[in-house]
Amino acid sequence: MVRLGVEVGEIDTPALLIDLDVMERNIETMARFFRSVPASLRPHAKTHKCPIIAHKQIAAGARGVTCAKLGEAETMVEAGIRDMLVANEVVGEPKVTRLVNLARHSDVIVAVDSPGNVRHLAEAARAKGVRLNVVIEVEVGNNRCGTDPGRPTLDLARRIAEHGSLNFKGLLGYEGFCQNIIDIEERRLKTHEAMEKLVSTRDLLEDAGFAVEIVSAGGTGTHMITGRYPGVTEVEAGSYVFMDTKYSRVEGLEDFGCALTVLSTVVSRPRPGVAVCDAGLKAITTEFGLPPVKGLEGVTYERASEEHGRLKVDPDVKLRPGDKIELIVTHCCTNTNLYDHFHCVRDGRLEAVWRIAARGRSQ
Ligand SMILES: Cc1ncc(COP(=O)(O)O)c(C=O)c1O
Repeated sequence: MVRLGVEVGEIDTPALLIDLDVMERNIETMARFFRSVPASLRPHAKTHKCPIIAHKQIAAGARGVTCAKLGEAETMVEAGIRDMLVANEVVGEPKVTRLVNLARHSDVIVAVDSPGNVRHLAEAARAKGVRLNVVIEVEVGNNRCGTDPGRPTLDLARRIAEHGSLNFKGLLGYEGFCQNIIDIEERRLKTHEAMEKLVSTRDLLEDAGFAVEIVSAGGTGTHMITGRYPGVTEVEAGSYVFMDTKYSRVEGLEDFGCALTVLSTVVSRPRPGVAVCDAGLKAITTEFGLPPVKGLEGVTYERASEEHGRLKVDPDVKLRPGDKIELIVTHCCTNTNLYDHFHCVRDGRLEAVWRIAARGRSQ
């Protein structure tokens, strides 16, 4: 492994770098916002998949973590984190068994949206002798999982209440379709419509006698709207910790900086105007566009193949095989999943290497 203290240029490539100053500022900026509103932050750990970062977010005031997958939740529990929301349905025998086992060692909360899954979870929790925390996922316009708002959600809450082995905690409603709306007023309008569905469903359940402790929603793009919406108790923002070019276009996020880059080596200058680097599709994700080259005018990342990135280079730019470049990630959450480690940099030197312990834990 590379020695700590070396300059960035000595790190072998491709490598995923965190600019620690920028990441720490992002954590503090978000924590400051949540000190000013009644809702809490429960950051989404799918972005970093790395327990030490989760612990830093909690130390800054977050109430726990959100996870996309049971495997991520297990990783966080192994690292000493108890309070987590799996913002997904956990379905099928092997996973349900793992979930109720995890409930012995944590305060895990899981999302449900169907009576069959509720019955399965209840039976498994009873057999294991645990009381499993559940929230109902409500479909607020994202067109993904979730019960319809209103009566169908109340019906499912009644199914949950039939089981002493389940502990109904509240509602989850993710307005993913609002996150990347660039114009903040348009985003506010759409987000309010979504939150209206969620909070009016909470009202219906409370009128029917249910205690609704959690109303969870929101992401990086809507945290400033959802986090202020009356009735929302926690926000699941993830990307803010690193940011990416997809989010840096979105209005209202100017206080967050891009902390994540891929360090890459130029491996060839085959023709004038062309360079090839060692970061292709297996080193950098491109579903939200090709990566800008950091701090280098006249060089454009043009095409990604599996292990090659083709760069267009202006004639006056000197770029030789062996030179290193940094690529700014366009989607931080999927990039993290490509690497075993973060190389953490401050003032141009390697300060730490952190294992991305939940990388690949998509089961
Ligand atoms: C359920 C859920 N909550 C929150 C988020 C927010 O994540 P981010 O802040 O990275 O947009 C996501 C993103 O996919 C999600 O699926």
